[in-house]
Amino acid sequence: MNSTYGSVLWFTGLSGAGKTTTAKSVEKKLRERGRRVELLDGDELRTTVCKGLGFSREDRIENVKRIAYIANLLSRNGVDVLVSAISPYKEMRDYARQQIQNYIEVYVKCPLHVCEMRDVKGLYAKARAGEIKNFTGITDPYEEPECPELTLLSSSATLDQNVQTVITYLEQAATSS
Ligand code: PPS
Ligand code: MG
Repeated sequence: MNSTYGSVLWFTGLSGAGKTTTAKSVEKKLRERGRRVELLDGDELRTTVCKGLGFSREDRIENVKRIAYIANLLSRNGVDVLVSAISPYKEMRDYARQQIQNYIEVYVKCPLHVCEMRDVKGLYAKARAGEIKNFTGITDPYEEPECPELTLLSSSATLDQNVQTVITYLEQAATSS
């Protein structure tokens, strides 16, 4: 860890796994501790700097490249960055890891059937009905992270436990750098 840079916590996982929720809670905790923090959420960026990008492999790669670029700018100015984006392909996560100092991959792991049962946004039902093409986990792959720095089990651990796991990791990383 380079202590002049902020940490970049890259939350990856299926739609509905809990990336946004977990990242928001970690954001709150870090702010309370006086850190400067920004959350870069896939859904939100797709309405602004990533507007117009779809869900083809090519567009997802472009999406992640833009997110990694912004994360880098913030991080080098000492801001902690929380990215919550499905980032389903190993290739794109490897790219982010290579581009970003203090990259910390956080796999928000949740079985597909649980995400599908939650179906918070009704997207899985639409994907099953063939109304959404290239839907992650259904008609487009999610390549599981092989060596994430952290794995959070969102179906068996509580949100508070997962947030604490992230905070403890950051504290340890800060003291060992
Ligand atoms: S990616 O793969 O990293 O570029 O995706 P991301 O920018 O995180 O956007 C994921 C959110 O877009 C919605 N959505 C879809 N997800 C996956 N596949 C398809 N085809 C799709 N279409 C729309 C969905 O709300 C995702 O948000 P989360 O928070 O992951 O549920
Ligand atoms: Mg989300």
